[in-house]
Formats: sequence, C-alpha cells, structure tokens
Amino acid sequence: MFKVNENFAKLPGSYLFANIAKRVSAFQAEHPEKEIIRLGIGDVTQPIAPAIIEAMHKAVDEMGHAETFHGYAPEQGYDFLRNIIAKEDFQEKGCDISADEIFISDGAKCDCGNIQELFSLDSVIAVCDPVYPVYVDSNVMAGRSGLYNGETGRFDKIVYMPCTADNGFLPEFPKEHVDLIYLCFPNNPTGEAIKKADLQAWVDYANKNGAVIIFDAAYEAYITEEGIPHSIYECEGAKTCAIELRSFSKKAGFTGMRLGFAVIPKDLKCGDVSLNAMWMRRQGSKYNGTPYIIQRAGEAVYSPEGKVQVAEQIARYMKNAKTIYTGLKDTGFTVYGGVNSPYIWLKTPNDMKSWDFFDYLLNNAGIVGTPGAGFGPSGEGYFRITAFGTYENSLKALDRIKNL
Ligand code: MLT
Repeated sequence: MFKVNENFAKLPGSYLFANIAKRVSAFQAEHPEKEIIRLGIGDVTQPIAPAIIEAMHKAVDEMGHAETFHGYAPEQGYDFLRNIIAKEDFQEKGCDISADEIFISDGAKCDCGNIQELFSLDSVIAVCDPVYPVYVDSNVMAGRSGLYNGETGRFDKIVYMPCTADNGFLPEFPKEHVDLIYLCFPNNPTGEAIKKADLQAWVDYANKNGAVIIFDAAYEAYITEEGIPHSIYECEGAKTCAIELRSFSKKAGFTGMRLGFAVIPKDLKCGDVSLNAMWMRRQGSKYNGTPYIIQRAGEAVYSPEGKVQVAEQIARYMKNAKTIYTGLKDTGFTVYGGVNSPYIWLKTPNDMKSWDFFDYLLNNAGIVGTPGAGFGPSGEGYFRITAFGTYENSLKALDRIKNL
C-alpha cells in the first residue's frame, strides 16, 4: 500500500477561513431570512480600478492576435513588471533592490506557503502568536513541527512569540536558537504596525544569529503613519537576512486575480549558496509564470491613473477602519489596529472566548468576524473585524453591535 505524507494528519480541523465559511453557510441555511454582514476573511469588495480594467482589456485583445499573443510567461515574471516594481516600490523609496531580485507570483499566500522549501527540514521556525495560519500549516505539512498539543494549542518544535496587548503586539526575541522567523507587519491579524527601529532590531538579531526573516508586507499599502517601514529593506543589513513577500490583493483588490511577488536579495546566502538562485531554480521546475493579462493589470497599478484610483480605494477602506475603530471604542470596546492596517483587533467583552463571541455576533447581530483564537492561542479573547466591507455595511454592523 502506498504511504501518504503523515505530517498532514498533525493538522487539526480544517483551514481557519474554510471552517468559518462552513459555520456561516450552516447558519444561513438555518436562517435564510437573516442578512449577514461578512467582515471575516480579509477579502476586498471594491471593483478593480478602471485603469487596471483598461490594461486588461488591451492585454486580452493582444492575446487574440498572432503578432501580440503570449504563451508561457517567464517563471520569474515579465521584465516590464519586475522593472517597475523595483523602481517604484523600492529604489525610489531608498531601498537598493534590483529587478532580478523580484519574483512575480500568483499571490502572497502561495509564496508564504512555498518559501519554506528553500530551508532544511530541521530548521527551527519562529512565528508570532497570533499568526496568519499559512506560515505554520505549510511548515507542519513539510515536517518541521512535532505533534499538535491540544492543551496549549501549539505545535511542538515550533517557537511561538506571543503578541498581546501586554507587549504592544510586538514579538520578543526567542530565547532559543531559531533559523527562520516569520514576521508580518502591518500585522495580520492584530492590525498593529512595527516601528523602523524595532524592525531594525530584528534585522540585527537575524544577522547576528544566522537566521532568515520571512517578512510578509502584504498590508504595507495601508500604512498611514510616518516612521513605519513599508519594506524590511529600509533597514540596514536586511539584504543579507530577509525575504520580503508582497501582494496585489490588498493593495489593488486582486484577491480574485492572483498577483504577488517575493523579493530575494542576491546577498542572501548560506555560505556560497544563493537563495535567489535557489528560488529561480524552484520556480523553473514548479511554476509556469503568472498570466500575461494579470501582469499587465499589475503594471497598470503603477500608471499615473492607476495610482490615484488605487489610493482612493485604500482610502475608502481606511475610512471604514476608522469608523469601525472609533465606533467600537465609543461603545466601550478595547480596540487595536485599524490605523496602519485594514484590520481592527478587539478584546472580546466580559472575557468571552473568541469562538463564543463569534457565535454570539453571528446569532444575535448577523455579523461574521474572525475569532482571535483561530490565529493561535494568544489570540484567545480577541476578535478580528475587517474594514474591507462597504461603508454602508461597516456602519450597519456597528449599529447592530451598539444595539446588542
Ligand atoms: C485574512 O483574512 O487573513 C486574509 O484575507 C487571508 C489571506 O490573505 O489569505
């Protein structure tokens, strides 16, 4: 009999957002008359900006003519997109990143899950707690964890760095040696950002201890305050210890189109082995390139019209964030995030468990959020609400909460 990858059996239940979707469908089936407001998964609601649609129409037409048709895309991405990203997202912002250090992909989720392949199976990984589940799940599937401990809600052999109100949602350096450190800032799920000096300290720590930071910057476009780094490469020395992952999903509403990129500096080496070269090799074998039409759409995000339109969309989501944050605070909730991020992270009232509060909100207000405990044991007692809904629904949800 064949054997399966037994590491999968270590994963308890289903993926967080699949689990929530199942619960919501069951509730809707039982109460078809109830109007549900979905502020759970961080999925966008505004349509793709006109400049991007126009670029896609043009690209679609090109695909219909032999002279302008495009087959397999280069695995690492078309130069037109890599060049503009290198210039606008990095070089013009003072980060010394070149186009050949940028690898276009079909989104940050896949990159987050796949990037661990570059590292030895006995690498010790460190994650924030609470954390975006993909970092943990992908390492568990690969075999870098021990068993799941139902009592602690943690996997053995994974180092968890609690991020709670007590430490300002900033991880502390692990006491033991770790090889791979996943950091996401502005953070999902807490919505809190990291200051440049604090990120610099992590870069120094990684360089000193021979660790690599996987820096998930999927939410950088939501930063509104000065002094908050958009890229880890704003920190000195980051090119020798950090990989950065970016997404077009939150920046330009591409959740249904799939586009992201990984930055792997050529200076990032293990001895004389280049991780940039390894990723190039990996993509060559496992990836056939992001579709031409989607990469042209990505390019349009950087056009003068695209920039204005995308900034307007983000401003609309951030108006929701402010409204939800302020409204909840005025109602007496303790709230975090929401200033440099589209996520509002609140303390559940009366020390309710996160999943109990999830059920309570769904049953009594028809609102779907995400239970903090779903992101890890230190998320217990917290709850996440996204600002990615419409303004009307954000107001309506607030009203329903106030009336509870
Ligand atoms: C979330 O809700 O945490 C995100 O939307 C999930 C994702 O980006 O995959």
